[in-house]
Amino acid sequence: MALEVITELRLPLLMKEIVNKGIGQNQSELIRQNGLEMMIIVLIGALCGLLSVFFSTRAAQGFANDLRKDAFSRVVHLSFEQTDKFTIGSLVTRLTNDIEHLRILVSQSTRMFVRAIMLFGGGIIMMLSIDSSFSLILFIVLPIEVTLIFIFLKKAFPLFTIVQSSLDDVNAVMQENVSGARVVKAYVREAYEAKRFGVTNDALTNNSLRVSRIMAFIGPAMTLFLNITTIFILYWGGSKAIEGSGLQVGDVMAALNYIGMILMSVMMVAMIFQSITRAKASGARVKEVMNAIPSVKSGTVDASKYNGDIIFANVSFRYPSTGKPVLKNINLEIKKGEMLAVLGATGSGKTTLVNLIPRFYDVTDGAIFIGRENIQNFELTSLRKLFGMVPQKTELFSGSIIDNIRWGKPDATLEEVIEVCKVAQAHDFISSFKDGYDTIIGEKGSSLSGGQKQRIAIARAIIARPRYLIFDDSTSALDLSTEARLYQALSSFLHDTTVILIAQRVVSAKRAQRIAIIDNGSLVACDTHTNLLKTNAIYQDIYYSQLKDEG
Ligand SMILES: Nc1ncnc2c1ncn2[C@@H]1O[C@H](COP(=O)(O)OP(=O)(O)O)[C@@H](O)[C@H]1O
Ligand SMILES: [Mg+2]
Repeated sequence: MALEVITELRLPLLMKEIVNKGIGQNQSELIRQNGLEMMIIVLIGALCGLLSVFFSTRAAQGFANDLRKDAFSRVVHLSFEQTDKFTIGSLVTRLTNDIEHLRILVSQSTRMFVRAIMLFGGGIIMMLSIDSSFSLILFIVLPIEVTLIFIFLKKAFPLFTIVQSSLDDVNAVMQENVSGARVVKAYVREAYEAKRFGVTNDALTNNSLRVSRIMAFIGPAMTLFLNITTIFILYWGGSKAIEGSGLQVGDVMAALNYIGMILMSVMMVAMIFQSITRAKASGARVKEVMNAIPSVKSGTVDASKYNGDIIFANVSFRYPSTGKPVLKNINLEIKKGEMLAVLGATGSGKTTLVNLIPRFYDVTDGAIFIGRENIQNFELTSLRKLFGMVPQKTELFSGSIIDNIRWGKPDATLEEVIEVCKVAQAHDFISSFKDGYDTIIGEKGSSLSGGQKQRIAIARAIIARPRYLIFDDSTSALDLSTEARLYQALSSFLHDTTVILIAQRVVSAKRAQRIAIIDNGSLVACDTHTNLLKTNAIYQDIYYSQLKDEG
């Protein structure tokens, strides 16, 4: 790159000689010689330029690649609380667009910055070597240019952050609508959602335009400035040349070239400053992700030996985002090997309750113990490996059915997979597919019915024969006879496993040894079906109303 700049600096000098001596004194040999040298120099310059672009681009891409990987692994490790706070849309922007701004900066700064400095310094030296009185012009022109640029950038900086956060909003709406496309269609909300998207998108456009408007001024302002300077030099240099004070036409031409280079290099630095300011805004946003220390901290005790009761001791919980108390003073003992059902109205806190056990969130007050050890002392991975979980919202991933089931046990053989699918009542429908277990299911399992997805998620949860199994309303989409067969098969497949079963239907809950009733965040009772039916008003209510519905 240095070579590239040197060749660039040499050109006006050669030209000056051609004009002064070649044309001025009719030395045609000199014209030919210098002309040839100029050609060679231009070619070398172009080649060097190409190489330096190539290397700086590679460096920048490598940098962006590493950064994205790091940021991604951060995001994967964020606790739920943090993902809630960042929002998915914003995380997507930060990992793509913001990192892109940083990449642009790296690719520019490695190249343009050095180049600009060299052109600037070289240009000044060369110009002064032609005639030292040019320093006067530089002295006037440069400060004005720098001030102008500074004013523009100062105006633009706060806008960059605003643009990025409006991009977050656009991504959020987009993401919601794409993943919820079916619901949007079913409720004929397209027009409404389009309008909502329009609002956020307009905001993004307006904010971007405000930035561009400021930036758009820089270019023309600089050109105008350059032209005025040119006229100035022409006038001043020209009159000096006519006076015959040693300044020749070629000198003035070369000086014009150099002043162009000098002003251009300042302009280049300004451009870099623009991407620095932009990258600074983006950098801060990426840094927030990189510095987000997961709020759920791993302990050191290896949980893999633990297999005791799960005890909730005075547990209270509020979501950090809302602060509203969701669970209040829960005291509950879940015996090793028992099946416990959790019953309660929607929003009463059932999902929250079970999410606390593998520490998706940490309790706000009280503590949870497994085999007498506070779960906060466990090494996180070993703790989570104890559980087979079927979340309320079935999450499958794009890929084949067998791949999805092997999430639960990556080295499972086909026989093992088939065995658990038989237990989960999934084998029959999977076999009926043309590609069987290799059937590719769309994103989030979009090609399967709700009940099919639930059964695949159950197979995935039980394949590793976990010590604790958590079903969060996991059989809600199954008809009663399939559900009955599933529990039948499950009880002979699992032996020592403790099962926590969140249910909406009393018929499902009745299978458990005990039923815990959650009402508005409090545990109101925990007993057998027979006892609850005798003593608990809430349970009686639910039981008889469902009995009526079943007819
Ligand atoms: N991620 C969250 N952030 C804030 N509040 C939440 C979150 N998830 C659930 N809630 C609130 O916590 C309460 C209990 O929710 P949940 O445990 O899902 O109930 P259930 O599973 O019994 O239907 C509800 O009021 C719900 O609005
Ligand atoms: Mg729930």
